[in-house]
Amino acid sequence: MKIKEANFVKSSSKYSDCPPENIPEYAFIGRSNVGKSSLINMITGRKDLAKTSSKPGKTQLINHFLINDHWYLVDLPGYGWAKVGKDKRATFGAMIQDYILNRRNLLNLFVLIDSRIDAQPIDLEFIQWLGVEEIPFSLAFTKSDKVGNSKIKNQIQKYLNNLKSTWDELPPAFITSATTKKGGADILSYIDEINKFAKDKK
Ligand code: GTP
Ligand code: MG
Repeated sequence: MKIKEANFVKSSSKYSDCPPENIPEYAFIGRSNVGKSSLINMITGRKDLAKTSSKPGKTQLINHFLINDHWYLVDLPGYGWAKVGKDKRATFGAMIQDYILNRRNLLNLFVLIDSRIDAQPIDLEFIQWLGVEEIPFSLAFTKSDKVGNSKIKNQIQKYLNNLKSTWDELPPAFITSATTKKGGADILSYIDEINKFAKDKK
């Protein structure tokens, strides 16, 4: 799929302020600084569509981008950012949770995992929660330009093994890099497939 158009629609501080739920939607989630905004820019081929920063906590709202006039990409705030106070962290958590549980047109959530870091309890807990709530998701391992291939494969295997202990079906896993553009085409074809499926079902 080619990205012909990618436009910022709006930033919302709560689920109920988000745009109408009438077209397919895909959101990016993961710990702060994992590279959510950068990955959105990479797959759309727009350098500054989503705001990025080397400091964690850049994205603080639910940001909708309209792609090819037909589906939404959503940039979410990160979870587990140690530097925000407890209250703010709870507000972010509630905002994200509310969005994920209620958004009816959310067809897939991409859960981003930093390829360089060993499996973190917060990521594993979040993924388990998605399973319990039956939210469709896939994994995207980010910053793969920073680690060797064998380390990444090892990382992915560890996550999948962890999930295997509780689930029969494992989610797709993408290896990505916003720097080298690795994985961008794979994610776009995956979205394209789901879009087609959603259209056929209508
Ligand atoms: P929050 O909005 O704070 O939750 O962060 P985020 O997950 O949106 O991360 P963001 O895209 O802002 O990127 C965080 C930092 O990681 C920035 O300095 C990026 O340049 C860097 N980064 C993101 N993706 C990659 C990548 O694939 N490779 C490398 N080397 N750096 C990356
Ligand atoms: Mg961000």
